Amino acid sequence: MTAPIAIKSIACIGAGYVGGPTMAVIAQKCPGIKVTVVDMNEQRIAAWNDPNLDNLPIYEPGLKEVVAEARGRNLFFSTDVEDAIDAAEMVFISVNTPTKTYGIGKGMAADLKYVELCARQIARVAKSDKIVVEKSTLPVRTAQSIRTILNAEGKDLNFQVLSNPEFLAEGTAVQDLHKPDRVLIGGGQDEAGQRALNALADIYAGWVDRDRILTTNVWSSELSKLTANAFLAQRVSSINAISALCEKSGADVDEIARAIGMDSRIGPKFLKSSVGFGGSCFQKDILNLVYIAQSYGLTEVADYWEQVIKMNDYQKRRFAENIVQKLFNTVSGKKIAMLGWAFKKDTNDTRESAAIYVADYLLNEQAELWVYDPKVKAEQIYADLDYLNTRSEDENRRLVKVVNDPYEAMDDAHAVAVLTEWDEFKTYDWQKVFEGMKKPAFVFDGRNVSNGRMLGTIGFHYQGIGK
Ligand code: UDX
Ligand code: UDX
Repeated sequence: MTAPIAIKSIACIGAGYVGGPTMAVIAQKCPGIKVTVVDMNEQRIAAWNDPNLDNLPIYEPGLKEVVAEARGRNLFFSTDVEDAIDAAEMVFISVNTPTKTYGIGKGMAADLKYVELCARQIARVAKSDKIVVEKSTLPVRTAQSIRTILNAEGKDLNFQVLSNPEFLAEGTAVQDLHKPDRVLIGGGQDEAGQRALNALADIYAGWVDRDRILTTNVWSSELSKLTANAFLAQRVSSINAISALCEKSGADVDEIARAIGMDSRIGPKFLKSSVGFGGSCFQKDILNLVYIAQSYGLTEVADYWEQVIKMNDYQKRRFAENIVQKLFNTVSGKKIAMLGWAFKKDTNDTRESAAIYVADYLLNEQAELWVYDPKVKAEQIYADLDYLNTRSEDENRRLVKVVNDPYEAMDDAHAVAVLTEWDEFKTYDWQKVFEGMKKPAFVFDGRNVSNGRMLGTIGFHYQGIGK
């Protein structure tokens, strides 16, 4: 048996939501390993290096403390990709894998061009053996392509490819990294593959119990990540489907969630009905799963999972349609306050947020939107709307106002729509809000965060999801 590989230096390509926090925690927990996070985006790297930790490019509770501890000690952020690859025994690929917007698989398949570029760069730069770790979420069997590219340079080097998907959720990323339910590592089944796999397992064992570190073959690991996100999203779509039924039948979706969640076989988590799931992963990963199933000719499997997305689109549309309908079938020229823009609370991330689609729908109906979110900046909100290409940039800026004071957003409005479940929304002086609004005053709560009975007593017309 050959000696185990001890890793002294790690490089991570991609300083995004996944790469940044993951590497920060590895560096924090393994002071003997030098961790260098590289990114081609200079601005992003500058922000990671900003002396003022409030300027980190990603907001995650607890992240700045981790960065403060490790940065400059054994955690480094740089734009020098080649140098970092050259120095490392292990290279994580954590670049983004957006849904393809062109060609075959357009709108469904994951675009792997950045991952391929990384593999080519590693192959070109490497002067010593490398363990390459897929951190990005990738279609099953991508490791094979990466291996082929790595070996195509014809260098006499040993490249091992591992799959190590990330299960962290935004807003709790640091906590999820410190105390993961499990760490999943897929690797080759031969001896070289197992040595590489053990090298990565040893790093995590620095702070994670060995029995929570699962090892599988590469394909199971890759497919587990897509499956986990598909199951989670499916739970949200399932409860949202029931919410529509509740609104017609007089049942209450939160009561149902509690009743079924106490069944230990079902469990209580991920049963919160909402205006629809968002985030960078759920939709992208399911589309990817659907595409893979289709490409193997498994039409029924593809249709089954696609329905999770269709239900989510329906939920967003249903919420927006209901606002228009309740406001006497027209919102043209009416001020509507939107509370929340992020795809969930405790993050400034807006990717695929339901708020974007609800806003677009209401703007098509010529509403005047006033948006307040405690963490999302105005430029981001306009960028999200511009990206849809539904109307001109000027029009978006004319019809949408972004404000820093929630009371200003709600003052003189016909309706308030709650899109994100920020805790602070529960603490507002709703009596004062009511007095400032046009009557009848409506609250459409897309997250069921408000106390509907209390709002009703004040005089609001209140509509929660599935109520
Ligand atoms: C991650 C995963 O990689 C993705 O597969 C998963 O499904 C979601 O989370 P994330 O970290 O959220 O992506 O992406 P992002 O925040 O966009 O960060 C990726 C970074 O990689 C960006 O900063 C980008 O500049 C960088 N990048 C991209 C490179 O440095 N080189 C490239 O070639 C491409
Ligand atoms: C998800 C997975 O949880 C994580 O394991 C994976 O690595 C990345 O994708 P994330 O996108 O950060 O994480 O957020 P998550 O907390 O899963 O929420 C996703 C969306 O579902 C949010 O819009 C959220 O508001 C919504 N949601 C979640 C509900 O509407 N109801 C619920 O009960 C739970």
